[in-house]
Amino acid sequence: GMVRKPANFISSIADDRGEELKYCGVTITEVFAQDLGIGGVLSLLWFRRQLPPACTKFIEMILMVTGDHGPAVSGAHNTIVTARAGKDLVSALCSGLLTIGPRFGGALDDAAKMFSEAYDSGVTPKDFIDRCKKNNQLVMGIGHRIKSLANPDQRVVLIKEYAKKHFKSTPILDFALAVEQITTRKRANLILNVDGCIAVSFVDMIRSCGAFSREECDELMSFGCLNGLFVLGRSIGFIGHYLDQLRLKQPLYRHPWDDITYIQELAGSS
Ligand code: ACO
Ligand code: LMR
Repeated sequence: GMVRKPANFISSIADDRGEELKYCGVTITEVFAQDLGIGGVLSLLWFRRQLPPACTKFIEMILMVTGDHGPAVSGAHNTIVTARAGKDLVSALCSGLLTIGPRFGGALDDAAKMFSEAYDSGVTPKDFIDRCKKNNQLVMGIGHRIKSLANPDQRVVLIKEYAKKHFKSTPILDFALAVEQITTRKRANLILNVDGCIAVSFVDMIRSCGAFSREECDELMSFGCLNGLFVLGRSIGFIGHYLDQLRLKQPLYRHPWDDITYIQELAGSS
């Protein structure tokens, strides 16, 4: 009989072999016929399911609010410096993306983990904060360099309002807001930031939308897909900054000496 060669690859999200490209079984024609949008395509390719419109709209909202935050933030700065060094679009984009991490834009997965585990364990917001402090651990998703109680982040307001209006329940968001009430008493900039707000709202969304079992929710969260949302959204801005620098014909960047404190003593001499 026929001997089948064992496959080296296994893949479950897209198939280009037939007459038409399929995203998780849905033909590209159908994707457009149903007007699934970028949120629908992302749901098929990342989560292997068609999520309800309130969820796909939320995904699109996340990509929109994370689109850019001006040229001064770590990632855009790197992209701009790289563009001005004459490098190509992909290099400038990657240079920006490489700054995304625990301090900038990449706190979503850890925020989701910390807040959902705390909520699930039944700990109070106050005990959660005390425990983090005792373990010398920052609360991921809390704090912002510029935004504060006095200078609120409208992106966070938009996300919060959408989650409250469209999701069946928002216990993790509510827990994070209770944490914010306490942290902002210490310092006005220890707000629930855009990473944190997206992260906790996303957990509430997948837990309450009916499309995932609890085991599937937990597995998905353990993969760390949420930082991917920021990466994807902010790529729009980084590419924009790259094009902007070319358009503005900006020369090679060199940081001014007078903005650097030079320390010349030999280490260990004082
Ligand atoms: N949890 C608890 N305490 C905090 C936190 C936090 N997340 N962030 C800052 N603090 C405390 C610090 O311990 C410090 O306390 P101290 O004065 O008693 O030593 C004080 O606030 C100042 O800390 P800095 O590091 O100087 O604060 P800064 O404003 O420079 O930091 C930052 C901003 C990097 C966002 C920080 O708050 C942080 O690391 N947060 C957690 C990670 C996070 O959510 N990053 C995403 C930010 S949003 C975005 O990038 C799109
Ligand atoms: C961002 O979205 O890039 C920011 O919130 C970070 C910043 O420092 O403004």
